Amino acid sequence: MTTPARNPAAERPAVKSHLAQVFAQYPMEIAHGEGVWLYARDGRKILDFYGGHAVAGLGYGHSRWLAALERQARQMSFQTNALPIAVRERAAARLVKFTGLGLDTVFFINSGAEANENALKLAFKITGRTQAVALEQGWHGRTAACGAVTWGAIEKWYGFPRTPFDVSFTPRDDPGALPRHIDRNTAAVIVEPVQGVGGAFDVGKPMLEALRRRCDEVGALLIFDEVQCGMGRTGAPFGANYYGVTPDMITSAKALGNGFPVSALMLSRRVAREIKYDDMGTTFGGGPLACAAVEAVIDAIESESLLANVRQVSTYIRAHCVIGPVTGVQGAGFLLGLKTSRPAKEVQSALLEKNILTGTSADPRVLRLLPAYILNEGHVDQLCDALSKIPA
Ligand SMILES: Cc1ncc(COP(=O)(O)O)c(C=O)c1O
Repeated sequence: MTTPARNPAAERPAVKSHLAQVFAQYPMEIAHGEGVWLYARDGRKILDFYGGHAVAGLGYGHSRWLAALERQARQMSFQTNALPIAVRERAAARLVKFTGLGLDTVFFINSGAEANENALKLAFKITGRTQAVALEQGWHGRTAACGAVTWGAIEKWYGFPRTPFDVSFTPRDDPGALPRHIDRNTAAVIVEPVQGVGGAFDVGKPMLEALRRRCDEVGALLIFDEVQCGMGRTGAPFGANYYGVTPDMITSAKALGNGFPVSALMLSRRVAREIKYDDMGTTFGGGPLACAAVEAVIDAIESESLLANVRQVSTYIRAHCVIGPVTGVQGAGFLLGLKTSRPAKEVQSALLEKNILTGTSADPRVLRLLPAYILNEGHVDQLCDALSKIPA
């Protein structure tokens, strides 16, 4: 989770809030959004490079997405998975085609953690093994299983008396270390091809290829957690496409529904062959509104050439944003980390004063950008201009 710029305690409203106080709060209240712009109650217009934490891939109020949700809500707002509905089949077929990797079985659920939880469970069930491997600095969610494979969770917030399985963490940039961690006890390796919370860190093709090879050698299943980096954010459908490495399972959420809660677990044929009735289940997952949102997101990405836009504008950011306190850029597409010469939180605060919203990360010297795929070069010019006025 990214941390806002200011001390949350100081920002708490005078009126008692009945919400659990577990999130640090940005110092503004958003009234509405349009495209890449946020409009605050106090009248400020803020350029959003944070995208609701990587969710608002199409930006706010996208007409195709709005129309699809309205149409679906009128036609059939909810129906259980036990009753076939066309929009669910269409969304799954659309996602499989968009992904284009031969992972042609889809299970819809509601959140990133739920998708990862199911992926891990299947890996343990299928292999009959007892251990998972994850990467240092990786982030996979807040449930018992996802927290177990999230770097630093046990020390920071885990809370459960024990993890449900053994976990070994391997360095994120050392293919040579893999044989020490991944062996015939390993059910699954879970990895974000581009780490989000870890600082928009590009794990990279050689490391992903080494993971694929090692998993094949020992019979472990490879899971790409693409909750943050997938669904177009790299400028390719998924990180798997971007790097040319195909895992056994991909999890997707965040931009998948552009704000309507939905996640997906995509399975290779090898994995799909092993599942049977009742292995997984959900009430809300695969609901008609969620599926209509998925269809609309893919429609918009394809018909508006948004992947090409992500690639082009990402290149522009790399070329122009190393300015002021920014010393370099890492990551891929629209999951970028601006490396900063001073604490990223200070740069984030200074940008917010200039009405530009960005994210931070677990790396105190990385400012994270997660903008909507409709961002253009003019918006980047505004960011560069603001950065150039912040002392290095
Ligand atoms: C890579 C990654 N995986 C999983 C999750 C968990 O997703 P959710 O909060 O939807 O459960 C996140 C959330 O930030 C994430 O970035």
